[in-house]
Amino acid sequence: MNHRTTEGPAAESLDPLDVVIRYHQETKHHFFRYARAPGYLDWANQPDPFRRYEGSPLVPLPLLKPDDAPFSPRYEDLYRPGAIASAPVSVRTVSRFFEYSLAISAWKQAGEVRWALRTNPSSGNLHPTEGYLLIDKIPGLSPFPGLYHYTAKEHALELRAQLPKESFSLLMQGFPRNAFFVGFTSVNWRETWKYGERAFRYCQHDVGHAIGSARIAAQTLGWRMLLLDGLADDTVAALLGVDRSVDFAGAEREHPDCLAVVWPAGRAAGPATGKTISVPRSLAPDAVRALTQHIWHGKANRLSRDDPVQWEILNQVEVTSWKSSTEHGVVELNHDSPCIETLINPSAHAPSIYPGQPRAGQVIRQRRSALAFDGKTSLSVDRFFKMLARVMPRVGRDLCRRPMPWDLLPWGPAIHLALFVHRVDGLAPGLYLLARDPAKVGLLRRAMYQQFAWTSAPGCPEDLPLFLLQEGDVRQLAAEVSCHQDIAGESAFSLGMIAEFESSLRRYGPWFYRRLFWETGVIGQVLYLEAEATGVRATGIGCFFDDPVHQVMGFNDALFQSLYHFTTGGQVEDPRLTTLPPYGLDH
Ligand SMILES: Cc1cc2nc3c(=O)[nH]c(=O)nc-3n(C[C@H](O)[C@H](O)[C@H](O)COP(=O)(O)O)c2cc1C
Repeated sequence: MNHRTTEGPAAESLDPLDVVIRYHQETKHHFFRYARAPGYLDWANQPDPFRRYEGSPLVPLPLLKPDDAPFSPRYEDLYRPGAIASAPVSVRTVSRFFEYSLAISAWKQAGEVRWALRTNPSSGNLHPTEGYLLIDKIPGLSPFPGLYHYTAKEHALELRAQLPKESFSLLMQGFPRNAFFVGFTSVNWRETWKYGERAFRYCQHDVGHAIGSARIAAQTLGWRMLLLDGLADDTVAALLGVDRSVDFAGAEREHPDCLAVVWPAGRAAGPATGKTISVPRSLAPDAVRALTQHIWHGKANRLSRDDPVQWEILNQVEVTSWKSSTEHGVVELNHDSPCIETLINPSAHAPSIYPGQPRAGQVIRQRRSALAFDGKTSLSVDRFFKMLARVMPRVGRDLCRRPMPWDLLPWGPAIHLALFVHRVDGLAPGLYLLARDPAKVGLLRRAMYQQFAWTSAPGCPEDLPLFLLQEGDVRQLAAEVSCHQDIAGESAFSLGMIAEFESSLRRYGPWFYRRLFWETGVIGQVLYLEAEATGVRATGIGCFFDDPVHQVMGFNDALFQSLYHFTTGGQVEDPRLTTLPPYGLDH
């Protein structure tokens, strides 16, 4: 077996928190040295991006056209509470849910080479994230409750386990009526194959994007979604069957990430008091135990020719960021999340802010990463503010009042945006900061250069905590710190997602490291779609020089760390690429 070791004290002699922090420090890109990676791409050993469970019954999901029911709402209605009637859970709505969250959105072709793009983006298009569904009997899908694995290539569900009716009912106790669970895991090897030691970070970004795209997909159907953050990783692994060595013999393992509950919204949904609804944070241990004692179907396919290369530091961070604790209790949610529109503009009948009033499905399907920007396109300041407003959880830690999709993550916002503004009409180019939790402005200010201006951006809505730090042309700087990628400087704006790093890890534990990345992924997903709806394009940027970014801002310790970069502007198409429709459907 191929092993790569790391120098330094043995992980066993360190506090788990220090192991996670060491992983983060060791996997930084520096101007003088990139994080350790294989150094070449072993194409013959590239992992298959499509997992299958050989021998498990495959249930195809209906391939729906955009005009087929359930009909996609207008994109902007996603953010208007009550604007989208809640659809019943059926094989068609489940199909839409997966189409809008994890399905193939197009095939690309260059010469003889063809590759699939999906509704969720992925670092290097390697797609480590696998999706699962735990659901009651559904006509057209199954006459019994079951655990399924979603197969994007076929847009189908593979039955992993038929679940006893009584155990499933036990599991659902306390959850809203007609709820189901969606789970995510990562084949970390898919990213490690290319990116080596930094791969664990990319897998977490991708989980965040998948969580975000699922939350938005749920919203198109009038459904709610909440991450069950109280679950231990062992429980997630057991429920999704990825702890079953026997089914993974000779196949690459999957790392359990998370489970979320999804349910049709509305007052009839379930246990409710007044305006709120209580949703459990985890699952009853007895119910979980009963559910895992059944007959399993299928063996995971092998994805690569050779066994995965073992990077010691990756194994260490997987072990130390494993969530072993279970927290019970409930989360109080309101029935309908408030929306940004009602906060910024109280009229729900205001003219559309998006050109052509696109449908949500259209925006979701056409989402792509820009490969290059034109260095010309600018955004109006109004659009810029509205895009930023979408990533604001608004009411801090009060989950009851957070807008979609921020009603999904039960923890308080821990990520802020450091913006490199290049081309926003009506706004001076320069460095800006968006405090996603306004209560943290003082903390951020103390941690950054004292000479920064911290003036409110001119014309900025009062409830958008956006501050000008320093005026100037930051195009070259943005590209330089983003691994010299032009996309960060040729855009209208780019940004670094700044995490409340060490304090969050100390407060919650080393497992929260992964959550910080998930939050950045959800922010990225919201911005990808906003860019698309606004008529521009975006790209997530996982390659950046960590400490040089911190130096730009004045951060000189691990209190704040940049975890993910992002860029938005007018894209330049690559004429060598041909686009083909997914599943033979021409949308
Ligand atoms: C976490 C993450 C990091 C990424 N990093 C980069 C990057 O550094 N440079 C880049 O050009 N694209 C980057 N991308 C864009 C991916 O290459 C892109 O999502 C992938 O090729 C799939 O294409 P699509 O987004 O059009 O579906 C990143 C995407 C994600 C989700």
